Amino acid sequence: MKILAIETSCDETAVSIIEATIEDSIESSNIKVLSNIISSQVELHAQWGGVVPNLAAREHTKNIIPVLTESLEVANTSKNDIDLISVTHAPGLIPALLSGVSVAKTLAFSWHKPLMGVHHIEGHIYANWIAPHTEIVFPALALVVSGGHTQLVVMKDHCQYEIVGQTQDDAVGEAFDKVARILGLGYPGGPIISKRAQIFTDSGAKNDIELPQPMRNSGDLNFSFSGIKTAVLYTVKNYKKENNLSDDTPLPQDFIDKVAHAFQTATTEIFTKKTLTAVSEYNIKSVLLAGGVSANVQLRESLQNHITTDFPDVNFFAPPMEYCLDNGAMIGVAAFFRYNIINDSEKSLLKDGWKTVTASANMALK
Ligand code: KG4
Ligand code: ZN
Repeated sequence: MKILAIETSCDETAVSIIEATIEDSIESSNIKVLSNIISSQVELHAQWGGVVPNLAAREHTKNIIPVLTESLEVANTSKNDIDLISVTHAPGLIPALLSGVSVAKTLAFSWHKPLMGVHHIEGHIYANWIAPHTEIVFPALALVVSGGHTQLVVMKDHCQYEIVGQTQDDAVGEAFDKVARILGLGYPGGPIISKRAQIFTDSGAKNDIELPQPMRNSGDLNFSFSGIKTAVLYTVKNYKKENNLSDDTPLPQDFIDKVAHAFQTATTEIFTKKTLTAVSEYNIKSVLLAGGVSANVQLRESLQNHITTDFPDVNFFAPPMEYCLDNGAMIGVAAFFRYNIINDSEKSLLKDGWKTVTASANMALK
């Protein structure tokens, strides 16, 4: 089947066409991304230091039809070939979500196609199924790390979710963005922090900044990041005081690299510890990294190495780099798996999906 997928929950206007077929079983399904067009608004929002919801919605409205047209063209697909339309319906910035949902509903109504609402986090998790995925076996554990979410989610089977741990304050992506702002690195923070941390690693120096790791030993699977962010703020303040630097004096590059490295190391160590604990508590067979922060190389490597050493029978997966950040393909893949597990009466509801777009979305996720 061919699925058209729309994602506009934050600052990327994204439309993808995927083609997916089931071979012997859903596990061995064959997934091809025919197009994955993304129009990013990062430059627009960078001047405000973060995403402005109404500006995001205005840009989505401006860009979505050109992105849709290009996606169909690149996929060499016409509206007649589309079997299902899917759209991120939650969670996200309300004005931004509304622009994508309105377009999806209009297309479903006028093209007479079924429409399925997809949960954004479900999409991030299913980005892991875009690459060869026959070795993803259940129970699986998803470590969801994005700009709005930080969760450990147990999946006993396709589209079944139990949140077993989550942040008590900031999401980790948000913490990356705030730390970048404190260091004067701009928005978005994740990619630049990880670049600067790598420069420090390559220097071969030993890092003498040690940041706290809140809730690391809390005995549960929850997280907290606001304390690390505050510790970074005080590290910078103290450094400026000790070196007689005024508030508006830029920080030296090597100090920025060192703080970025210390922050990234603290978060990586927390995630590695809690993930390994969850693997053992829930008898996990596959670990899936998901969300924008899954692009972080230190986190990917640390999880891969520790899982291989401590749990040689557990497989670790991370989405291909191009599917880590928000994109349409992940929404299409999540829709494909859900479509194949729902029954015929649920499927027939999708025909009226333009009336009830949220009907089939998984609300076990928050
Ligand atoms: O999943 P995503 O694209 O949007 C949300 O659903 O929130 O995640 C965006 C977040 C931002 O906070 C960004 O700073 C972070 O992902 N990010 C990274 C990296 N690339 C993006 N964080 C750490 N390392 C990266 N390489
Ligand atoms: Zn996202």
